[in-house]
Amino acid sequence: MLVPISMFRLVASLAVVAPLTALAASAHKGDPAAGKIMYTDCAGCHAFNTNKVGPKHCGVVGRKAASVSDFADYSEALSQSGLVWDEKTLSKYLENPMAFLPDTTMEYGGVPDEESRLDLIAYMRQMSADPKVCPKK
Ligand code: HEC
Repeated sequence: MLVPISMFRLVASLAVVAPLTALAASAHKGDPAAGKIMYTDCAGCHAFNTNKVGPKHCGVVGRKAASVSDFADYSEALSQSGLVWDEKTLSKYLENPMAFLPDTTMEYGGVPDEESRLDLIAYMRQMSADPKVCPKK
């Protein structure tokens, strides 16, 4: 009788630990649900799968800056930047686009809060991985 009880405890405690670990990891890396709310700030100029005033965002995390081939309006500044969008470069750009890259045509004041920027990046990553939003070509 003692063995099944301790087994039950072990399983029960593992079941509690796993979600907590997942929560801690997501808190550190940015929360896509919070990023989705932040993205309303971007949605006037951006969408994921179509170009608007700004280039589409499917696959943006991990690709070269200014590399959406059917977006015609990139600035010289962004095209020549040599940037690759990862968490670090995106966070810097989004903090204050016109300070980081003075001649960028993204006329937007930026997102001063670092955690909010990480949330946004997590959201862009999540949407890019969703084949319903960003079909694989
Ligand atoms: C007023 C319109 C506008 C708003 C608002 C805006 N953007 Fe942009 N965004 C642009 C334009 C225009 C470009 C192209 C900039 C260039 O070529 O210098 C751009 C470029 C970008 C790029 C580079 C894309 C690439 O293909 O290299 C990223 C990433 C980006 N925006 C993210 C965001 C995010 C995230 C937000 C919201 C927090 C946002 N933008 C808000 C207009 C906007």
